Amino acid sequence: MNKQIPFFNLSRQHEKYKNQIKKNIEKVLENQAFIGGNFVTQFENNFSKYLNVNHTVSCNSGTDALWMALKALNIKKNDIVLTTPFSFIASSSEILALGGHPVFIDIDSQTYNIDTNKLEKWINEECNSNLVHKKTGYRVVGILPVDIFGQCANYIKIKEIAQKHNLWIIQDSCQAVGAHDSAKIFAGNHGDISCFSFYPTKNLGAYGDGGCCTTNNPKLAEKLMRIRNHGRKSHYNYIEHGINSRLDGIQAAILDKKLKYIDNFNQKRIEFANIYNKKLSELNNIKLPKNLNGKHVYHQYCIELVGINREIFMQKLKEKGIGTNIYYPKGLNQIEFLNTDQRLKNDCPISDNLTHNIVALPIWPELEIEEINYVANQIKEILSQTNIQFLSKKIETKIR
Ligand SMILES: Cc1ncc(COP(=O)(O)O)c(C=O)c1O
Repeated sequence: MNKQIPFFNLSRQHEKYKNQIKKNIEKVLENQAFIGGNFVTQFENNFSKYLNVNHTVSCNSGTDALWMALKALNIKKNDIVLTTPFSFIASSSEILALGGHPVFIDIDSQTYNIDTNKLEKWINEECNSNLVHKKTGYRVVGILPVDIFGQCANYIKIKEIAQKHNLWIIQDSCQAVGAHDSAKIFAGNHGDISCFSFYPTKNLGAYGDGGCCTTNNPKLAEKLMRIRNHGRKSHYNYIEHGINSRLDGIQAAILDKKLKYIDNFNQKRIEFANIYNKKLSELNNIKLPKNLNGKHVYHQYCIELVGINREIFMQKLKEKGIGTNIYYPKGLNQIEFLNTDQRLKNDCPISDNLTHNIVALPIWPELEIEEINYVANQIKEILSQTNIQFLSKKIETKIR
């Protein structure tokens, strides 16, 4: 009989933790600490402790965190930021929001993170020695890597490039709470500023929107605190342009409770990824994700289909009661309005190809092992029935 395994579901987690969560919410209500106050400060302190980072500045979302980070690092009109095409839109849209240009550097085919060789090559070939882009005259100011699906980008190399060229780094760790790189440094510590999202589906999810910036630089922390509060230095003393971006007390109290369990949540994701890896490894028409840099926390577990029609594959799993999703069906380099200047266009063939073949499988922490086994077994069965209709157009053409 078919099981029903949604791609993502929060009700089991809520059922398990609801009494503790409700108690924490009740405390906020009793203290009327809706905006700012103890619960927000306590969560910020505990989050810093967890990541071993000096400062956490909470805000309303991962998107706001990115905007605030770019603003704090003084991005100016027409500045270029080097970033990945294989991400959620916010990692590029906020560059645009502040007048900058995202330049897309292709990704590594194993980790799906920004390819540091291509990053270096682009700088060497496209810029003069002052890091001014030869064709446009725009200056390159920073690098914005994304720790995609929960695995850190290659910060050893990224830092080397940034130091050599005097560039800042904004680490988008929205999908990577609890991940660390091979040097065992937690996501949240690799950038001048790092950004997190507490969107409900994230590894550490609130019951609404939430996010934060982290930094080890006290001056940047101070600036971020001003920027999230209209540029306010002291009572009615506004010294720069900012926004209103708050993590409210109720969300902070919920996150503070869930933070105690983040290692358990991540451990479950890793355990499930290992089961998928083991059970699917013998199939030669799929490529499995690679954990090549420290601790991967599998915000998503994505497989690549090789010569298989994705829509039919997903439909067949749906018929077995299994939900899947596509991250990402389109690279950011393919989104017209993000390509601000044709002279900055850069080819990203690895990312472009991946957007056609990638599929995300269920990996939320409250799944049961037998459910993960069921998903893996159904995939094996479906792929063993491969017929001509199931193959991709490219292979069909070849066969004809
Ligand atoms: C890589 C990445 N960056 C930024 C964001 C934006 O976070 P939020 O949805 O909290 O604004 C997300 C969330 O989906 C994300 O996955």
